[in-house]
Amino acid sequence: MFDSLRPLVKSIVDSHKNTEEKLQEICNLLKEEIPHYDWVGFYFKNGDKRELKLGPYAGAPTDHTIIPFGKGICGQVAESNENFVVPDVNAQDNYIACSITVKAEIVVPLFVNKENIGQIDIDSNTADPFTEADEHFLEFVNFEVSKIL
Ligand code: SME
Repeated sequence: MFDSLRPLVKSIVDSHKNTEEKLQEICNLLKEEIPHYDWVGFYFKNGDKRELKLGPYAGAPTDHTIIPFGKGICGQVAESNENFVVPDVNAQDNYIACSITVKAEIVVPLFVNKENIGQIDIDSNTADPFTEADEHFLEFVNFEVSKIL
C-alpha cells in the first residue's frame, strides 16, 4: 500500500498547484487510501512563536488550530524533533483529545534545512495500528513536502 502511494505523493509535489493545494491533496490521498488513517493534517511553527498552527488537513474539523510547544503529542514533537507513535491515546497524560473516536496517533516532524518547522499528524480510530512502515512512509512524505516549503 505505502509503496504504491509514494509515486502519487511525488506527482502531487511535482504538480503545478500552489503549496496549500498540494498539502491538501496529500492529506486527502492519505486519508482516502490508508484505512487506518482517519484524520490527516499538517501543523507548522507559527512564525516566531513557540506554538504550532494547523495547516491543511483531511477529516473532522478540530478546535485545536493553535497548539503551544510542549502541549499534547504535537507540542511534544515540536520540542523533541522525534517521531512520536502513540498506540493508545488513553494511556497518555500529555494528550489533547480532538475526538472521542480516536484511539491512536502518530506525529512525524518535518525538517527544512535540518530545522523542525512542523509536522504531519495522523489520528486513527483503530487501536495500535502503526508500525515502522508508517514511520518510514510519513518520513518520506515530509521529505518530499520539505522540497516545496
Ligand atoms: N491529539 C493531538 C492534537 C491534535 S489533533 O489530533 C488533530 C495532540 O495531542 O497533540
